Amino acid sequence: MAAPIERLEDIAIAMVADGKGILAADESSATIKKRFDTIGLASTEESRRDYREMLFRSEGMKKYISGVILYDETIRQNAADGTPLADIIRQAGSIPGIKVDAGAKPLAAFPGETITEGLDGMRERLAEYYALGARFAKWRGVISISDSLPTWGAVKQNAQALARYAALCQEAGIVPIVEPEVLMDGKPGDHSIDRCYEVTQWVLKTVFAELYDARVILEGMILKPNMVIDGKNARKASVEEVAEKTVRCLKSTVPAAVPGIAFLSGGQSDEEATAHLSAMNANFDLPWKLTFSYGRALQAAALKAWGGKPENVAAGQRAFTHRAHMNSLAALGGWEP
Ligand code: 13P
Repeated sequence: MAAPIERLEDIAIAMVADGKGILAADESSATIKKRFDTIGLASTEESRRDYREMLFRSEGMKKYISGVILYDETIRQNAADGTPLADIIRQAGSIPGIKVDAGAKPLAAFPGETITEGLDGMRERLAEYYALGARFAKWRGVISISDSLPTWGAVKQNAQALARYAALCQEAGIVPIVEPEVLMDGKPGDHSIDRCYEVTQWVLKTVFAELYDARVILEGMILKPNMVIDGKNARKASVEEVAEKTVRCLKSTVPAAVPGIAFLSGGQSDEEATAHLSAMNANFDLPWKLTFSYGRALQAAALKAWGGKPENVAAGQRAFTHRAHMNSLAALGGWEP
């Protein structure tokens, strides 16, 4: 197993290596239960471990996955043979990462909006995660669109929290993934792509202003944004339109010093998430790497093929490897339907 990479800038570059992207496997216990419910599987410490061990031991991990975002439980878990799961990730040539936020909670005085919690005690937790092998972290701020939302208060407070988190990570030698997610599948979810553009631009401008004020080193971070896309209940924009508007929005807001942008999938279908990423890489000159940090769009097919049955582990791994391969091609602009 290679020694871990230690400089922030080097870790960030490795996270967006050519043809590689990040596996978001950091579902909280409540979220993974919802995913397991779809295959009729009880969510237990062991079933969660078996599922994630299956993904981490797949062929696709070695070839296409630069890093894995873990949940607190998983970074402390051992595989069935006793090997720490974080070691299995490292043996596959990938970097273990950790979700450090405590989730989006209702924001006082701002009905319908949330603030992400988890800053208290973060310095100590980051030191512990570093000792457990994590070299990057993730914090997700959530912004909802409706006729009257988001408000400036919610945008500003979420951006500030992201910036405070990012500075703490860098102090600990951990690369922050800064994730301000403008929801496509919030309620009512009927907004246009142009409204998504306007809100995403506003949010990213605010986030980078806060990162500057917090003295965050842009070369040692990764941005994880939503794509610019119409709401889940109003989807009609073409692949070309999503790609063009997303790239235009990012170019107007994200400094070139940021080494890489790794998108969330946010409720897009597996193929849409792949097609959009490929179109961006194929058709535009970009100052940063553009890749994936998908949760659902990398895992949905594997979860279904596995179905919670030991005899289906190989089928689950094949399904995961296939999606990872397609997204690797997309990260190089070479995916074809
Ligand atoms: P999705 O790709 O399923 O949106 O998840 C990515 C993620 O990490 C959200 O925080």
